[in-house]
Amino acid sequence: MNGPPQEFAACVMRWQKTHGRRGLPWQNTRDPYRVWLSEIMLQQTQVATVLDYFPRFLQRFPDVEALAMASLDDVLGLWSGLGYYSRARNLHRCAVVVAVQYGGRFPSSSQQLQTLPGIGRSTAGAIAAFCFGERSAILDGNVKRVLTRVLGFDADLSAAANECALWDRATALLPRRALAQAMPRYTQGLMDLGATVCLARRPACLTCPLSALCVARQRGEPENYPVKTRKLKRSAQSLWLLQAQAVSGAVWLARRPTPGVWAGLYCLPVFESREALQARLPQRFHGRLRDAPAFTHVLTHKDLRLHPVTAQLPASALSGLDGAWFAADQWPDLGLPAPVRELLSQA
Ligand code: ADE
Repeated sequence: MNGPPQEFAACVMRWQKTHGRRGLPWQNTRDPYRVWLSEIMLQQTQVATVLDYFPRFLQRFPDVEALAMASLDDVLGLWSGLGYYSRARNLHRCAVVVAVQYGGRFPSSSQQLQTLPGIGRSTAGAIAAFCFGERSAILDGNVKRVLTRVLGFDADLSAAANECALWDRATALLPRRALAQAMPRYTQGLMDLGATVCLARRPACLTCPLSALCVARQRGEPENYPVKTRKLKRSAQSLWLLQAQAVSGAVWLARRPTPGVWAGLYCLPVFESREALQARLPQRFHGRLRDAPAFTHVLTHKDLRLHPVTAQLPASALSGLDGAWFAADQWPDLGLPAPVRELLSQA
């Protein structure tokens, strides 16, 4: 980094005051429940989407005890559409642990927070900084980008040892004074810089408060950071979805097994081929099957090619399949994969 190390935190905080995101419903609170809930929702989800889900979730589950008492089905139902459902399962497990083992109060150090389900080192650091003013670093994808660029840190983050070294650098840069105010401001500032200025493609260096300190900018190649050679291997899979509808309009849904794609959610019956789908229905109903247009749904590790097959069927046709009829007025409260919800909305 160019310039004295204490300059970094000061720049981040000054910028956050005037240009950072303010007035979000999970800011200006030190309530660990709200901060935790927002941080989990904000993993892999845009602020605009979370603004919609966060208040609804809080209204239904106003505190960690209420969430712990809820059924996993209720939690998945309210989470429906946010994706990455392991977050919702861990959220519920974490609430139970906090309620039962910690008397309903979140532990107050990042070390202890990290032992809870679904809370990794960076989320623990964020909660401890926002709620308890702890001098703990965060290092999510956005913050890795900001720090590797400013520092000119060009070691390969695919190697755990290098990632560890970056954590050490991140910790060294943290504010050292007035932590109760400084840590929330600084932590939010780093997140905001990563999300709005220090973008992966075409970073807005001209408006960046760190540009004078930034080694990557000086080298003229900010987009080359962070360095990560081992990329996520993606795969593709085709699945056939049986959209069986009763005369009443009800749809046949079954719970997905755990583990696997959409674990624990309600879903149309899923098959690996058109033939496998057909084979599970009595022959006399095969003529009722209609192939709807296929579409692609992108998961973290996988592109799913989904082939809906619709049919009006009596319950007797489905006796070989797990599941039950669900009427349209039940769909909104069920945990459904986003593409299935979309298909049902068109039914
Ligand atoms: N992404 C992760 N945490 C965030 C926060 N507290 N504010 C805005 N975006 C975030």
